[in-house]
Amino acid sequence: MKSSSYCKEQQHQYNFFKKDTFLSLANTTSILFYTTCLATLFTFYLIYYPINITYTSNIQEYNQISNFTQPENGKSNNKSSDKCDLFKGQWIQDERGPLYTNYSCKTIPLQRNCFLNGRKDRDFLHWKWKPDQCELPRFNAETFLSILQGRTMAFVGDSLARNHMESLLCLLSTVETPKAIQEDKEEDKSAIWEFPKQNFTLMVFWSQFLVQSTEKVINGSATGSFEIQLDKIDKKWSKKLPIMDYVIFSDAHWFSREHDLYEDDKHIGCVYCQKPNVTVLGPGPALRKAFRAAFKEINSCKNCKKVFTMLRTFSPSQFENGEWNTGGGCNRTRLVERDEVAREGYDWETRKIQVEEIAVARKLGEKSGNKFEILDVTEMMLMRPDGHPGVHWGNRWMNGYSDCIHWCLPGPIDAWNELLLEVIRRRQLT
Ligand SMILES: *[C@@H]1O[C@H](CO)[C@@H](O)[C@H](O)[C@H]1NC(C)=O
Ligand SMILES: *[C@@H]1O[C@H](CO)[C@@H](O)[C@H](O)[C@H]1NC(C)=O
Ligand SMILES: *[C@@H]1O[C@H](CO)[C@@H](O)[C@H](O)[C@H]1NC(C)=O
Ligand SMILES: *[C@@H]1O[C@H](CO)[C@@H](O)[C@H](O)[C@H]1NC(C)=O
Ligand SMILES: *[C@@H]1O[C@H](CO)[C@@H](O)[C@H](O)[C@H]1NC(C)=O
Ligand SMILES: *[C@@H]1O[C@H](CO)[C@@H](O)[C@H](O)[C@H]1NC(C)=O
Ligand SMILES: *[C@@H]1O[C@H](CO)[C@@H](O)[C@H](O)[C@H]1NC(C)=O
Repeated sequence: MKSSSYCKEQQHQYNFFKKDTFLSLANTTSILFYTTCLATLFTFYLIYYPINITYTSNIQEYNQISNFTQPENGKSNNKSSDKCDLFKGQWIQDERGPLYTNYSCKTIPLQRNCFLNGRKDRDFLHWKWKPDQCELPRFNAETFLSILQGRTMAFVGDSLARNHMESLLCLLSTVETPKAIQEDKEEDKSAIWEFPKQNFTLMVFWSQFLVQSTEKVINGSATGSFEIQLDKIDKKWSKKLPIMDYVIFSDAHWFSREHDLYEDDKHIGCVYCQKPNVTVLGPGPALRKAFRAAFKEINSCKNCKKVFTMLRTFSPSQFENGEWNTGGGCNRTRLVERDEVAREGYDWETRKIQVEEIAVARKLGEKSGNKFEILDVTEMMLMRPDGHPGVHWGNRWMNGYSDCIHWCLPGPIDAWNELLLEVIRRRQLT
């Protein structure tokens, strides 16, 4: 109910802006008048805000700007830049701005449409990720679709998996309108999109632990606390594994709650619990076991293709002056400097576990033809507390609460897809 009324409202807003009320009642004189006014305004705008006017979805222009070199028939162009660490770098100012807007992309969910929900500052859109040793090419939807022609890519995990997929959907929409095969308005379901021209399929599977889990219900109400079977894979995504060519995992946030952990049907401990005689394992070991189970599933799958698996590392929540429910928020409009980033504590430990587990999977899986790569975004996103919806996430029932976990669309999360494309492109060459 709630979400369908959101959508109606969004549709209504959208229709309002699409309708050209302006010209429908105009005669020639008024058109001339308004054109002159607009031209004058635009001139002033150019003079005073030269940095802010570069929104365009003209892909041609961006192709020229971008130095993207496509692999020629898989032939390696053994440039030293193909070896540089994409994830060590900094954000540098980029006057071009994003490749899509909330007008050009029709699939931005209300909660991520920060401008629709009243966000006013736009500086946060004018940064690009610059690896220290090389350039990260601007996202190129045509290149992406031509590499992934006939393929199926699945995002699996929590709502940040979905946030990532939604960014990709917007970036790809600049060249082809996706067709919804299976759509859902709620966050906690799965969706399938198709790009018919290139026969590319994009999927997202909601699986907040990757393994099986049951939410505990006390006196008839859901608790947000789960019983997790760390060695039993969540069939929701694993049963579709045979059709997947690319899988991108996103998982961590849900582990840091009070949970009971099971292995081989035996209670092995818990996360954040205070029960007598129960081993407290913490979120880290649980997360590690869940990833291990997911990668084992891929590496032992008999009727699967060669799967290209990526793990997107932890994207930390960035509440300041409190937690989400104790008045915390994220209203920064500036970046955190590289040398101010804290490479320690929970965020960094979580990332470390993920880095270690993808390395283990690679060792076990690559000889059978599977590929494992990391999208190591933790450090770069720690610099971007300015990229969250904050209070601009359009939830009237939770007025005053902030979202400092997900990312505005457009926004810094779009860089994840530039990294995704570059990582895939590099592996095509080898
Ligand atoms: C493209 O490459 C040329 C030559 O390597 C360089 O001078 C130019 O700055 C690059 N452009 C961009 C947008 O990276
Ligand atoms: C590519 O680069 C690697 C490492 O720098 C080098 O060992 C190899 O010979 C190069 N291959 C070609 C074809 O240039
Ligand atoms: C797009 O953002 C602008 C503010 O920048 C807002 O006024 C408009 O309603 C939004 N449109 C859509 C379709 O989201
Ligand atoms: C689309 O790709 C799938 C998987 O590669 C293939 O089975 C199917 O025949 C393709 N369809 C078209 C219309 O090319
Ligand atoms: C469940 O409800 C009963 C009766 O209302 C109450 O006595 C009990 O404390 C409740 N249990 C929990 C865990 O809240
Ligand atoms: C916890 O373990 C100790 C030692 O095994 C035992 O004496 C005690 O009764 C246990 N407590 C509970 C609540 O099970
Ligand atoms: C940002 O939030 C802090 C408290 O969290 C508040 O003191 C400050 O005034 C806010 N700034 C703006 C521009 O809203």
